[in-house]
Amino acid sequence: EKHVGILALEVYTPSTFIKQSKLEKHCGVESGKYTKGLGQEGLAFCGDAEDVNSLSLTVVHSLLEKYEIDPTTVGRVEVGTETLVDKSKSTKTVLMDLFPGNTDIEGATVVNACYGGTAALLNAFSWVESDGWDGRYAIVVAADIATYAPGPARPTSGAGAVALLVGRDAPLSFNPRERATHSANTWDFFKPDPTVEYPEVDGALSQSCYYAALENVYNRLADKINKVSKEGVKEFDAESPDYWVFHAPYNKLVQKSYGRLFLMDARRNVYDSEGEEEKKDATDLHGSLTDWLAKPSKETYGDKSLESTLKRLSARAFEERLSDANMASKLVGNTYTASVFLGLASLIDRVGGKGQLTPGKTLGIFSYGSGSLATMYRLHV
Ligand code: ACO
Repeated sequence: EKHVGILALEVYTPSTFIKQSKLEKHCGVESGKYTKGLGQEGLAFCGDAEDVNSLSLTVVHSLLEKYEIDPTTVGRVEVGTETLVDKSKSTKTVLMDLFPGNTDIEGATVVNACYGGTAALLNAFSWVESDGWDGRYAIVVAADIATYAPGPARPTSGAGAVALLVGRDAPLSFNPRERATHSANTWDFFKPDPTVEYPEVDGALSQSCYYAALENVYNRLADKINKVSKEGVKEFDAESPDYWVFHAPYNKLVQKSYGRLFLMDARRNVYDSEGEEEKKDATDLHGSLTDWLAKPSKETYGDKSLESTLKRLSARAFEERLSDANMASKLVGNTYTASVFLGLASLIDRVGGKGQLTPGKTLGIFSYGSGSLATMYRLHV
């Protein structure tokens, strides 16, 4: 086994931030709208001395320095970002300043809203896994400055960068068969005017696109994993990964989204199982969901009664499996491409720091980018 995966990762966020409670006052909205309504505590932002290229330079420099990586041992650098400093010259080429004496480095910048970093990571995994791999490291950088026009989306801004070192025999390894993707042509979030840094965003549509992508990739990944696992053994459901990491636009959305997985599990148990007995058990188990099992999923997105039922069913598992990953983004906000990796770093810091990321444990990772493109995959400790 090659155990291709993540060897190390490094995080950088600007040192300037605002508390969401202060932002509520500043924006003249009701107290609690951002802190309780969105579940956010803070928001990081850049001053005029930083841009996405400098965030990327800082985080890669720091990764190389802390892990004592010789720049000539790196054969691939790929960047995911949607904060374009230039429409042609890529951030990847700017990072070449950090690799003196080494021009033989593959990779470019990948753009697809919040998904670019995941595209870059999957490319790096494939390279390291392939016959073409030359034994050197890949570095994947995800960096963004998320900023919205004044209005309801502004509190979901943020800024940050993550650099990941990718290679073989990794402590967090990726099985290339354990992934599922959903892509569709949607117009939930886009940036048509290159002179304006704010996106055009339809908040409600972006939430339903996020739910739809999540449900699709989750069901698909569960089907894949359960098919290859021993017959009859349901190996993958909402509570089987020891930890989850979700792309985190804001904490409340992640919490609600995790709840949706319990509805997906209940549906699968009832409709996919062949044995009548299992059907009955599943219905008993998720008895409180009976009213919603047959409804098309999309028609249930705005259903407040379902939402509170799912919240109740998933609350404990959310706390155990997902809240640690979410902690960093609660404090710094949405970091777009970096968000899911910031979540991974947050989990490693909080859970790994206590020695709980032990061999054999698994992590479910969900990455979403508007427009839209999403992938769910599993990592093994
Ligand atoms: N106290 C407590 N809760 C409050 C308060 C208050 N004073 N005021 C409002 N709330 C609650 C609402 O009840 C609502 O709760 P619910 O979600 O449980 O129903 C919640 O706060 C949000 O309020 P809304 O009025 O529904 O939404 P709002 O107009 O604040 O906009 C939105 C939120 C749509 C997320 C906006 O910030 C946005 O467009 N953000 C950018 C898009 C985004 O992040 N999309 C996510 C996926 S795509 C991506 O990653 C970019």
